[in-house]
Amino acid sequence: MLVKELKVCLEKAQSAHSVQAKPIINSSERPINLFEYESLASQYLSEMALGYYTGGAWDEVTLRDNREAFERFKLSPRMLVDVSHRDLSTQILGQAVRMPILIAPTAFQCLAHPEGEMATRRAAAEMGVAMVLSTMSTKSLEEVASVPMSTPQWFQLYIHHDRALTRALVERAEAAGFSALCLTVDAQLAGSREKSRRNPFTLPSGMQMANLVTMKGREIPATVEDSRLLTYFTQQLDQSLTWQDLEWLQSITTMPVVVKGILRGDDALRAVEHGAKAVIVSNHGGRQLDGAIATIDALPEVVAAVGDKAEVLVDGGIRRGTDVLKALSLGAKAVLLGRPVLWGLAVGGEAGVHHVLELLRDELNLAMALSGCATLQDIDASLVKRL
Ligand code: FNR
Ligand code: LAC
Repeated sequence: MLVKELKVCLEKAQSAHSVQAKPIINSSERPINLFEYESLASQYLSEMALGYYTGGAWDEVTLRDNREAFERFKLSPRMLVDVSHRDLSTQILGQAVRMPILIAPTAFQCLAHPEGEMATRRAAAEMGVAMVLSTMSTKSLEEVASVPMSTPQWFQLYIHHDRALTRALVERAEAAGFSALCLTVDAQLAGSREKSRRNPFTLPSGMQMANLVTMKGREIPATVEDSRLLTYFTQQLDQSLTWQDLEWLQSITTMPVVVKGILRGDDALRAVEHGAKAVIVSNHGGRQLDGAIATIDALPEVVAAVGDKAEVLVDGGIRRGTDVLKALSLGAKAVLLGRPVLWGLAVGGEAGVHHVLELLRDELNLAMALSGCATLQDIDASLVKRL
């Protein structure tokens, strides 16, 4: 079926916010890169979901710069190296993964596909990658953890005003078998995403914040004219958070803590001094402070500050295998993928996410070969220059 016909069928079948499984994945229309996934996905999502997923803060300068900054870095490939056997496997916090690409936490995945986080998790398990589940998932952490997975599963945490609730989330994650806690530190207030202000974020009926649903009073308020999610953040998340809270968090769990949302060397060092085992260089996909530095530009300072005291990961604008190669050359242990996973979900559910990961893996594999790198250990700082 042609994309156009499919779209018409879907439009008829879909109400403003509902989603359906998309059969496009095995047809000749199958995307060949992550950008094609984005444009195809945009045809299937409701305006509200699309605005929420794509949106960046204010003028979206940081959102754009996350991509453009990658283009300012150029590769200096090595020739005549035996690259006939290549290996993309590595370890993240001591756990084996088949490639240095993790699935970033993104909220409300059922907006993209009815199976939401369950489909993402199954694809991650098949592809041998780690997945970070959002506090604001639309499937509960227990349900998601019930899908067998040998690769690392991390739980992303938002610290709420209500510490008993926060503690309960941490304890549930630990009991369900999550292997690390990923504390997001750049979003105690939600950034102003104007696409979501024009189309106020609201969860369609039947979808819920599955981890918080049993917790009375935590539903997204439906009373304000601006983004309702913004109000949730303001009302529920603890804006008084400081480095001491990182110690509090470690006092209530045996899981290693990863700090997500670091853009400066001194903050990275502080995170490590307060016990973080890894930091994620991230600006939340350009959704928080517009004008913030692109993550690939912030990465070298963080890597220099942290040295070998902790692992450094990075996300934001990763769309090509060469982006992964550049990030690893600059010292990242691995990268995280945000929106493209949502595009894969919207286009083909589990198969779509699987294919998105395959595409990026194959691009990285080829980029490594063409750069004279047979393994991830061969990727070093001399491979990349900022011009
Ligand atoms: C996010 N991100 C995010 N981060 C987090 O710590 N908890 C969350 O619940 C969410 N939710 C979320 C929803 C949506 C729709 C997006 C696009 C992003 C941020 C995410 O983990 C990651 O930092 C960025 O998405 C990475 O940038 P790219 O790959 O989307 O460019
Ligand atoms: C977002 C939150 C949920 O970026 O992290 O929308």
